[in-house]
Amino acid sequence: MAAYEFETHDYDVVVVGAGGAGLRATLGMAEQGLRTACVTKVFPTRSHTVAAQGGIAASLSNMGPDHWQWHMYDTVKGSDWLGDTDAMEYLAREAPKAVYELEHYGVPFSRTEEGRIYQRPFGGHTTEFGEGPAVQRTCAAADRTGHAILHTLYGQSLKNNAEFYIEYFAIDLIMSDDGACTGVVCWKLDDGTIHVFNAKMVVLATGGYGRAYFSATSAHTCTGDGGGMVARAGLPLQDMEFVQFHPTGIFGAGCLITEGARGEGGYLTNSEGERFMERYAPQYKDLAPRDYVSRSMTMEIREGRGVGPNGDHIHLNLSHLPAEALNLRLPGISESAKIFAGVDVTKEPIPVLPTVHYNMGGVPTNYWGEVLNPTAEDPNAIVPGLMAVGEAGCASVHGANRLGSNSLIDLVVFGRAAAIRAGRVVDAESAVPETNSAQVDKALDRFDGLRHAAGSTPTAELRLEMQKTMQEDAAVFRTSKTLAAGLEKMTGVAAKLDDLHVTDRSMIWNSDLMETLELTNLMPNALATIAGAEARKESRGAHAHEDFTKRDDKSWRVHTVARVDGNSVDLGYRPIIEDPLTPEKEGGIAIKKIAPKERTF
Ligand code: FUM
Repeated sequence: MAAYEFETHDYDVVVVGAGGAGLRATLGMAEQGLRTACVTKVFPTRSHTVAAQGGIAASLSNMGPDHWQWHMYDTVKGSDWLGDTDAMEYLAREAPKAVYELEHYGVPFSRTEEGRIYQRPFGGHTTEFGEGPAVQRTCAAADRTGHAILHTLYGQSLKNNAEFYIEYFAIDLIMSDDGACTGVVCWKLDDGTIHVFNAKMVVLATGGYGRAYFSATSAHTCTGDGGGMVARAGLPLQDMEFVQFHPTGIFGAGCLITEGARGEGGYLTNSEGERFMERYAPQYKDLAPRDYVSRSMTMEIREGRGVGPNGDHIHLNLSHLPAEALNLRLPGISESAKIFAGVDVTKEPIPVLPTVHYNMGGVPTNYWGEVLNPTAEDPNAIVPGLMAVGEAGCASVHGANRLGSNSLIDLVVFGRAAAIRAGRVVDAESAVPETNSAQVDKALDRFDGLRHAAGSTPTAELRLEMQKTMQEDAAVFRTSKTLAAGLEKMTGVAAKLDDLHVTDRSMIWNSDLMETLELTNLMPNALATIAGAEARKESRGAHAHEDFTKRDDKSWRVHTVARVDGNSVDLGYRPIIEDPLTPEKEGGIAIKKIAPKERTF
């Protein structure tokens, strides 16, 4: 058994991760007087939310008529009818409240002439239950909305006495013998000490796992740490086959060019200078949802109409927009285009390519953020003491495809919901669970094994093998052949975790060991993704299967539930929740209105 001394900390709530969801949960918990710690591997304002550009969806009606019911309908349709209806209603209904709260906390939103929060159009957001024109629903702080939200929430959390443990890496969850979560074991990166956090509630807000792929808009820190810990605790991951490709990553560099660029009037062209989205989505054109636009771009390239010397990308045009508008509304991406593509957006198009951007799947939860461990008797059984919010979780509000700007609102609505729920279920007067030493030993044995790993495969080499396999075999378009080959390859890649070689054995600022721990988190996420994709014999949202091109609601309108153990994946299924929260006669949306139908734009 590995001998490490550790320091113990007792809290009502420990939030792991300090992005938008983690900070909104932390703030909400602390505001209610719960003793709250936020543990984060990066400084809070360096969390990946800082990179969110275009905005946050809420039906404020500042730029024209809008209703939460229209937002809900768009989210249901955007999800390709795979989301849980209660969660989708909760998101759309609570969104305006959550955004006004942000405004009152101090988020510096851009403004209209009248001083209201400025809203821009984003893909898939419409009026009249998908029958009317596009709506301006995405509230923006220029093209740095995530940055503005993150800084505000961090300041407010400090003001409310939340305690931050910064640059602490979460190694593993502590589970009780009867299946509740009672804490988390962490490694402090800057001095090498070990810390055990005991808590009545642990909230995973660890973000997505974009870095399972070779090219992603996600930060290098997006390594699915929550999903990895959950898988090792024997709990499932849900709907992992649905990976979003953002249409406009900068070709080569992969950095994000916000969908807000198209919201402000930008458009895509092929090598013939044609605005090809008019053919694929006659009604909403460049503002169709992301899965649609990414597939259309890929088809143009495949059919020989890509741009560039190798015909392997597409142009995003902004130069027809007034320079003042670019400067006011899109200053960040104008700078990114200059730095990463060498392009002056006032004169030339930006070379872009669909790039991995978001994971619709994650740790299954209800709309309060409580983690689910589905059983045959109860598909919605709760894991006591454990919540997951933001991209780490799967509420499931995005189903098979997320609408742009529904991510930031997901972070704040469900971070806030987790705090509301914790206020009801966490008893501030009760004792904090005692340290479960057996579980701590297990976590530290794993840590020590990796620290002294003396196999023959360096971490960076295995990570690259995983990223290239995922990029090639779990791409925008998938076939039975590529998925079967990909699953076989990934099973072999995951087996090599037993043959890792870590060079640096020190405890302080050991990035070799930290990246190794991250790789052990990425791997179960990646495996579940390709196993789920291989099993799903239909096309739905971001899962475009060329051998099964139609959506099959009879067999596949169901969540995939993956339990990963080492390099094997056990797949099960969980029914989707079809009933909304609010009955029609009380102002809710009629069930027949949101019944599945063909998804066209
Ligand atoms: O395009 C963007 O600004 C990204 C927004 C989102 O993913 O919601």
